[in-house]
Amino acid sequence: MCGIVGFLGKRQVKEHLLQGLRKLEYRGYESAGLVVMTANGDFSVAKAATGVESLRDLCLKVDALEMPGMIGIAHTRWPTHGGATENNCHPHSSCDGSIWLVHNGVVENFQELRKMLVDKGHKIISETDTELVAHLIEEEMKGVNLETAVRAALPKIVGSFALAIICRAEPDKIIIARRTSPLLIGHIGANEFIIASDSVAILPYTKEIYELHDDELGIITSAGCEYKTFNGDELFKKMIDVDTELGEVDKLGFPHMMLKEIFEQPDVIATVCRGRLLADAGKVKLGGLEKNQDVAARLREIDRVIVVACGTAYYAGLLGSYLFNRIGIQAEAHLASEFLYSQVVYDPRRTMVLAVSQSGETADTIRALEEAKMRGALAVGIVNRVGSRMTRMDDCGIYTRAGFEIGVASTKAFTSQLSVLAMMMLYFGRERGKMALGEGQLLIAELLKMPDKMKKVLAKVAEIEKIAQRFSQAKNFLYLGRGYSYPVALEGALKLKEVSYVHAEGYASGEMKHGPIAMLDENFPVVAIAPRDSIFDKTKSNIMEVAARRAPLVVVTTEDCDDFDQMTEFVIKVPTVEMGCLSPLLTVVALQLFAYYMAVARGLNPDKPRNLAKSVTVE
Ligand code: AGP
Ligand code: GLU
Repeated sequence: MCGIVGFLGKRQVKEHLLQGLRKLEYRGYESAGLVVMTANGDFSVAKAATGVESLRDLCLKVDALEMPGMIGIAHTRWPTHGGATENNCHPHSSCDGSIWLVHNGVVENFQELRKMLVDKGHKIISETDTELVAHLIEEEMKGVNLETAVRAALPKIVGSFALAIICRAEPDKIIIARRTSPLLIGHIGANEFIIASDSVAILPYTKEIYELHDDELGIITSAGCEYKTFNGDELFKKMIDVDTELGEVDKLGFPHMMLKEIFEQPDVIATVCRGRLLADAGKVKLGGLEKNQDVAARLREIDRVIVVACGTAYYAGLLGSYLFNRIGIQAEAHLASEFLYSQVVYDPRRTMVLAVSQSGETADTIRALEEAKMRGALAVGIVNRVGSRMTRMDDCGIYTRAGFEIGVASTKAFTSQLSVLAMMMLYFGRERGKMALGEGQLLIAELLKMPDKMKKVLAKVAEIEKIAQRFSQAKNFLYLGRGYSYPVALEGALKLKEVSYVHAEGYASGEMKHGPIAMLDENFPVVAIAPRDSIFDKTKSNIMEVAARRAPLVVVTTEDCDDFDQMTEFVIKVPTVEMGCLSPLLTVVALQLFAYYMAVARGLNPDKPRNLAKSVTVE
């Protein structure tokens, strides 16, 4: 969470910092700030904290200020300690105002550090954990240079950080440091550097990008950039591969990124499949899995799959676990944040731990993957962002090729993850003789038809918008699904919660009668996902139970089904699929549109849901 950007170079940096922040705003938008330093070590600082409008306000402020200087650091914040007030905005400074820094992460020993610093006479003016780091460096900077002080201060911090630090006494320098939170350095030219949390802010300037790893420092001056460990050992860095195909970060005429990304899905699914499906052989080619002979041998030994992921990616992974079980491979999905504590018993030699992630940098998922690797499991990633942290940690992996996803509410990432998981089912199913040629060919044919079928769901946009308008004042929703539609119900409910702030619960249809049915009445709408599939009759019975309680019903079903037409006027019909396990690719699109229009009908900006950030890089 949070975006850091910094510049050291031969140009006035103010405008460049703002442009960088604009690119990183998806990482946090509750407040924003920047500091620019002149060659004499004079600082100009600007901060703004007005929720999601903070960056716009910062720009207005900054436009009115001169802010000369060729060195600067900037930040867009997702608060962990202290509210989104101007006082808590980054950058933060030491008591004497000689050291300024921006930070992404969490100082976990916040309380004891604060006490220690206050006891030593430091004046702490914000509620943030970040400010303590500035004072900690100040405390160490007695008779030593900034680098030495930073190296002495950082081991005292428990927690995660990406830091960019500037100091009056050394006005041609930015020091950066990292533990856990991401930080990249772009070498623009011999004497010019940009640092940022994400390559998206760097790529307009250069493709020569390096990554800081855990417990590493970068000392950037106009003479060059030196990389060192916290102990002071020098490091040689190799350029990293990053996603240079970031796609359009513009809305391209759509009112919001979320809607644009929902509409991109037919193209995304075609891209995910391109070059991977071998239609005649009923097989799939997944180059990322066939990395080398060692990995290939290990993949053959695998008899268990443990998916670790968070949020939407977890729901995709849950569905993935159904797909692996379908071909006889024992599989389960775990919330990455719980995986470490649930003490799952597994034989690492025969287990694939499969991390699913759009960003490839979600801290909880990274921790779970690290743990699994440490125990010796085969670490596999299904990741969207090329070159992201997870792609450098896993033993092998498959890219989801969804393009840059900006909308905080994940949409195209989900359907691309499902498509990859379906391909993995095909891969292992055919390799292990658990899927016949005909079934493999059918799956491929269905995947190839999917973009057109998705377009048919998208064509129902006006109908879905009307349903959302009808329900926009509802206070609660229950989403029901059974089998492959259960993870879709969970995902539909999450989408609604995050963009419209309406309480929604996803539930297994069959579980409703074991409790939640008690809540139902004419003011408690239920969204049921009921494609005509092998378990349709059971799902239908559960929907009848809802109708009997007079709860308003929205049913997402398939075109071949008129069973609900008399029961409710709110029926959304999606194209039929011959393989029921692929129906989520269509039903979820209807729910994404529903959530989007609920947010719009409630006067909310679905691209900037309150309290959320796109990348969650803290545990
Ligand atoms: C979904 O709409 C999210 N905002 C969130 O749940 C997200 O899916 C989760 O944080 C995982 O992110 P990742 O895919 O980048 O790992
Ligand atoms: N923990 C810091 C704060 O609350 C940094 C948060 C962030 O990463 O944006 O200010």
